[in-house]
Amino acid sequence: MRLLSGMQPSGEALHLGNYFGALRQWVALQEKYEEALWFIADYHSMTTVRDPAIRRRYTFATALDYLAAGIDPERSIVYRQSDVPEVCELAWLLGTVTPMGMLERAHAYKDKIAQGQSAEAGLFNYPLLMAADILLPRSELVPVGQDQKQHLEMTRDIAQRFNQTYGVEALTLPEAYILEDVAVVPGTDGRKMSKSYGNTIPMFESEKVIKKAVMGIVTDSTPVADPKDPQAVVFQLWSLFASEAERGEMAERAVRGGLGYGEVKKDLLARLLETFASMRERRAYYAERPDEVEEILARGAERARALAAPVLDGCRRAAGVGPPS
Ligand code: ADP
Ligand code: TRP
Repeated sequence: MRLLSGMQPSGEALHLGNYFGALRQWVALQEKYEEALWFIADYHSMTTVRDPAIRRRYTFATALDYLAAGIDPERSIVYRQSDVPEVCELAWLLGTVTPMGMLERAHAYKDKIAQGQSAEAGLFNYPLLMAADILLPRSELVPVGQDQKQHLEMTRDIAQRFNQTYGVEALTLPEAYILEDVAVVPGTDGRKMSKSYGNTIPMFESEKVIKKAVMGIVTDSTPVADPKDPQAVVFQLWSLFASEAERGEMAERAVRGGLGYGEVKKDLLARLLETFASMRERRAYYAERPDEVEEILARGAERARALAAPVLDGCRRAAGVGPPS
């Protein structure tokens, strides 16, 4: 099975939600399946980020995040989307068989219009580029969050339309692998942890920044001696780093009373730092060696392009573009 997934480079460093919700599972899948491609969706980020220097910084940061979390460039193909510009050509070919109505129903576009904002053609065409990302290296399985399910359905639909239009089997229909077992990681304010809410715990930042985020987790003013709700945000976050048995004990202590939120936060911080210690080290290693990171990305792009070439060639032939053969 050939796996593929990607993330937009949209920040300086990942947060716990990204890790538990996506990256950690990618790393596990990389062990389970023999072939995996993980890319940094920098073309996609052009629909939101407008500053080229920031895009480069975020792209590099995302590469560091992947490597730190344990994406292994020896096992997996790790690349930057824009190093495989063939996706843009395939996206064009796909767009010629895709009904406007389908793209009009895509969430990102629909939401923006619903908010009364105007959208660029790039955002409108986002599903085409995403379909091209997936179809170009003939991916079979695409691990994504529930929010991307619609894009995967569109990808299958678009691939089928292309094949049907030209009476070929040039494109392989991928399956979505929905990472839905994961509970949504709450942010420090209790809402879903997200960069856009400013409620994240960024595990790759300095200890000082992490500590500030952990200490900032919302709690109510229940006195130490009183019983606490074991479902409070601070317990939910702490639970990410605890075993089943420890969770049970903690819940009992919470209900019994006498447990202060400060103690839980301190323990959470200690566990978090320990869990991420080796990843933080690996990230620091690569952060100081941008040339090594570039080499990894260049090799990844070369391998991705080798997988892409026959697929794109098949599509071009089917469509009758390029020199006749
Ligand atoms: P953000 O909301 O911070 O902008 P992204 O949308 O860039 O995060 O998400 C990148 C990946 O991390 C996606 O696969 C998404 O499903 C996952 N993810 C983000 N936030 C959470 C969360 N709070 N809980 C679980 N998974 C999350
Ligand atoms: N749209 C995805 C997101 O916002 C990122 C992405 C782009 C992607 N192309 C992809 C994910 C191809 C999986 C496969 O999270």
